[in-house]
Amino acid sequence: EEIDGKGKFAFPGLIDVHTHLREPGQEDKEDILSGSRAAVRGGFTTILAMANTLPPIDNRALVEFVRRQGERAGYAHILPIGTVTKGMQGSELVEMADMKAGGAAAFSDDGKNIQNAEVMRLALEYAKITGFPIISHCEDKNLAGEGLMRRGVASGRMGLKGIPASAESVIVARDLILAEETGGKLHLAHISSAESVELIRRAKAKGVDVTAEVNPHHLIFCDEEIGITDTALKVNPPLGSQADREALIEGLRDGIIDMIATDHAPHTQAEKARPFAEAPFGINALETALSAVWQYLVLPGRLSLDRVIEAWSLSPARRFGQQGGTLKPGAVADMVLFDPDFSEVIEPAKLASKARNTPFLGKTMEGFPVMVWVEGRLVQRDRTVI
Ligand code: NCD
Ligand code: ZN
Ligand code: ZN
Repeated sequence: EEIDGKGKFAFPGLIDVHTHLREPGQEDKEDILSGSRAAVRGGFTTILAMANTLPPIDNRALVEFVRRQGERAGYAHILPIGTVTKGMQGSELVEMADMKAGGAAAFSDDGKNIQNAEVMRLALEYAKITGFPIISHCEDKNLAGEGLMRRGVASGRMGLKGIPASAESVIVARDLILAEETGGKLHLAHISSAESVELIRRAKAKGVDVTAEVNPHHLIFCDEEIGITDTALKVNPPLGSQADREALIEGLRDGIIDMIATDHAPHTQAEKARPFAEAPFGINALETALSAVWQYLVLPGRLSLDRVIEAWSLSPARRFGQQGGTLKPGAVADMVLFDPDFSEVIEPAKLASKARNTPFLGKTMEGFPVMVWVEGRLVQRDRTVI
């Protein structure tokens, strides 16, 4: 078959290093099959699956379960992330070498930040030995408290309890210090503040082995745009100020922030229909993220498409794929054909994800992947999963 690529872009399949697929345990929100289908609809040929499932991915058998389910689904490559400690919140480290042998790509405390610095320090020492990055969720639970959105003018106006920006940067600073001391590989998840960008800039200048990611929603929205019924924009970390958003875009452009990642966090409609204070944190992002970045950042000239592809494919492959496998940069024909003129109304019936918690529901978006290949096999065409 001949493919007409006129006016379209061909690029490597995107690699999303931060997705919540909810299997095992919360399959009413998402499962590995629906999440894999959502991935290829969105242009992702590899996704890393976060460990905060029920039970959490804290042993080799569970790592192998996630990997097998990914293979059975047969769409995107699914790489399991393990927890750092047994039971996620304990103080006993998981068997990293064993889980790595079972196929774990990294280890993370995402969803439940490790509050104990000594545990994080030990994890980074092991990370140095195993060569795999520790992904930090970057949240001080005491500072975050029962907060619902970023503390600032907007939270004051809305009368909602705020989370200070320091809830993130205090842990960013801590983990950068520990990474420097141990020499362990550190990856900072969902960086959302100007101060965090500044801390990472300084650490990189000193040669600390750190990478960082930013989520599309933190590049596109800010706290002032949240309405009391917009539970789709209730995310963790919360949306920051306009100044934070600008610093994140700049940091991504400069290479201080290495990657874009969705933090795809599906929740049920019933959960997100609750009052703002009671709805869970998280945004459904796999199927709209690339289009959103295209529309809100590339088209207005804030980011180049080249930089977006580098940050969403090459940079993740370099950081998480150094052990070979499907994450080698330029692996065989994991590919996307992107049509900047393709427009689509984001409708519930079209979504491959089980969840509906996207702020773009009912909106018309422009610029979508219209053909996606995984290892040379066409898995999505004209927005339909094959
Ligand atoms: C995450 C989830 O739902 O698992 N939610 C989110 O808003 N990012 C967990 C988390 O990282 O807080
Ligand atoms: Zn997190
Ligand atoms: Zn997350």
